Amino acid sequence: METLRAAITGVNAWFPEYRLTNDELATMVDTSDEWIMQRVGIKERRILKGKNQGTSVLGAEAVKGLLKKTGTRADEVDLLICATVTPDMMFPATANIISDKVGIKNAFSFDLNAACSGFLFALQTAAEYVKSGRYKKVILVGADKMSSITDYTDRTTCPLFGDAAGAILLEPTTQDMGIIDHLFHTEGSGRQFLYLKAGGSERPASHETVDAREHFIFQEGQTVFKFAVSSMADVAVEVMKRNKLEARDVAWLVPHQANLRIIDATGRRMGLDPSQIMINIEKFGNTTAATIPLCLWEYEDRMKRGDNIILAAFGGGFTWGALYLKWAYDTKK
Ligand code: UT7
Repeated sequence: METLRAAITGVNAWFPEYRLTNDELATMVDTSDEWIMQRVGIKERRILKGKNQGTSVLGAEAVKGLLKKTGTRADEVDLLICATVTPDMMFPATANIISDKVGIKNAFSFDLNAACSGFLFALQTAAEYVKSGRYKKVILVGADKMSSITDYTDRTTCPLFGDAAGAILLEPTTQDMGIIDHLFHTEGSGRQFLYLKAGGSERPASHETVDAREHFIFQEGQTVFKFAVSSMADVAVEVMKRNKLEARDVAWLVPHQANLRIIDATGRRMGLDPSQIMINIEKFGNTTAATIPLCLWEYEDRMKRGDNIILAAFGGGFTWGALYLKWAYDTKK
């Protein structure tokens, strides 16, 4: 019997117009363009402005464009998964709201939360549905409105994050293409170093939690940095090894974009040249579940059918992982 795999057959992204630059941030907190560029590598990030504008706004625009670009009708979609840590609301799922906004009626949908590894974990989940043979067109959207949980009085976190969405279409293939292997991890004891302290069932919103600014991202940066640098590289190298890939066999590393120093260290450990690494952190910052599809969208016309691609991420939880796929199409320029 032929092996059924899931292949990415289209990619799209969407981000708001407003650019929050380092210079503007320096008017809000005690920071500078020099510090942010040297320590993190971000120049600007996009912010979704306006009242009652949630993550579904970002996600729906990305999916709308994806349907158009791939010539897919909304009624052909079998499943939509949204990876996010900033859902429009606790429930229902943002995936349902996105489906409604774009007219997807014949699909079921749900959210998946694995913080910055969300897109990666959801990609493998989506791939399993496709590999089952029952689901022919699956959409995965990674979307986060990080500005909704960012404290713009805290200089240690506010330069890091931005808002964006990226969406991909997955379809079955019997060719030697698509998603081949993955290695994922969770270390729940790491949750104390990067999290949202309140707003969930443990500490519901109250005057006290609002006054203590507990509805904003808390991060112990250095601890997360140390874990991220070693874990993301370890897992990416392990995925290369078990698939017998040398550095020269890898066309692209698509890393989560949290810090340029983490990306560089991962590339070095894998033995890659910087030209083999997708990087756009300078323009978008850390958009959590959107970083990887945003990179795929930006580099789409530079990837070729058959390219070996490694995706790698590290995030809150802690969660981390790497995934190996063969790119399935050439993009006409
Ligand atoms: O995507 C999810 C996973 N998250 C990550 O991967 C993030 C991992 N962590 C990081 O990327 C880095 O730890 C940060 C970018 C968050 C911070 O960089 P760092 O090199 O670890 O800086 P630090 O926290 O050790 O702070 C160094 C100094 C401190 O001052 P003192 O104590 O040495 O006087 C900070 O107060 O830099 C200061 N500082 C700043 N200065 C200017 C912290 N933030 C700023 C700032 N502007 N925005």
